[in-house]
Amino acid sequence: MSPVTVAIVGATGETGRSIVDALLQSPTDFGITALSRPSSMEKPENQKLREGGINVVAYDVHGPLEKLVDILTGVDVVISAVSYAGISDQIPLARAAKEAGVKRFVPSAYAPTTAPNGAVEMRDRDVFNYIKELHLPYTFIDVGWWYQGFIPRLPSGRTEYARFPNPFGDNPVMGDGNVIIALADLRDAGRYIARIIVDPRTLNKMVYAYTETMTANQIFDQAERNSEESVERQYVSETKLHAMIAEAQEVVKNKGASPVDILKLHMAQYQYSIGIKDQSSPEYADYLGYLSSKDLYPDFKAISFSDFMKDALDGKLRPLYS
Ligand SMILES: NC(=O)c1ccc[n+]([C@@H]2O[C@H](COP(=O)([O-])OP(=O)(O)OC[C@H]3O[C@@H](n4cnc5c(N)ncnc54)[C@H](OP(=O)(O)O)[C@@H]3O)[C@@H](O)[C@H]2O)c1
Repeated sequence: MSPVTVAIVGATGETGRSIVDALLQSPTDFGITALSRPSSMEKPENQKLREGGINVVAYDVHGPLEKLVDILTGVDVVISAVSYAGISDQIPLARAAKEAGVKRFVPSAYAPTTAPNGAVEMRDRDVFNYIKELHLPYTFIDVGWWYQGFIPRLPSGRTEYARFPNPFGDNPVMGDGNVIIALADLRDAGRYIARIIVDPRTLNKMVYAYTETMTANQIFDQAERNSEESVERQYVSETKLHAMIAEAQEVVKNKGASPVDILKLHMAQYQYSIGIKDQSSPEYADYLGYLSSKDLYPDFKAISFSDFMKDALDGKLRPLYS
């Protein structure tokens, strides 16, 4: 059988890397091309991709559409894993995919589910609706909150190497910390995606891929059991979150929309929707109409949060966004 041809946009990023690793390890034969912006062609991440045998091609969403169409002609599946800053660049990409006859377009999402406003407004309204307007075959994939976002700061400092800065505190907990959050290991995100994109049941559907459901308190309790250290938590009240959202909205409005300012706003909105409004739970995803990875792939061997914590404590994680 000929390989399933996949063009992945944003393969140099964190999600993109997880997806490429999974495509390479999958039993399905994938022919992979990575698309990277011209200014990123010399990134060390692209060098690594080339060393791994991946064809890296420059693409420019601001250039002529025909060039994009040429690049995507013959591609079965386009997977976009662009960062938040590149979300709107997917509009010309989707148009080119339609013209090139791509059989499935997977826009960048891979986030905990929320109501289709606030944090995900631009993604859902501008990108997802545009894909449907084009009548482009799609799969929208959301992924539970990465475990990697919950690596606690410990008194011993053992986990510092793997932590990335969190504007909400060292070990933040929204509200009372008793709201269920759907979670997955970033290393599993790509493995879920590699299965979803070749599954006929997921064509023109939304899929929610997650491994664990735990509250923030349960997450840090588990981290305490694994580490035998205390995890000092900073509780962020709903009132404080509202104030953070209002402040971020004001900055975005007054300064114009810099990607960092928008990211801060969206992070606060995400925290509110997930930690307070209970919008990342499987029940809420079900209400929104998502298929669940639990139903689709009951055989999936996922990394548990406890095993993830053991890796974190044993120095086995790769620092993200470094
Ligand atoms: N579930 C979770 O907990 C979670 C956590 C974080 C992120 N996510 C989701 O994962 C998706 C990807 O995010 P990520 O954090 O993995 O991305 P990332 O590592 O920050 O970046 C991914 C890639 O986007 C590409 N890109 C395209 N246009 C861009 C632009 N205008 N500015 C900057 N980069 C641009 C870059 O590739 P080139 O330089 O090669 O062009 C970059 O390497 C997002 O949709 C996000 O919502 C989910």
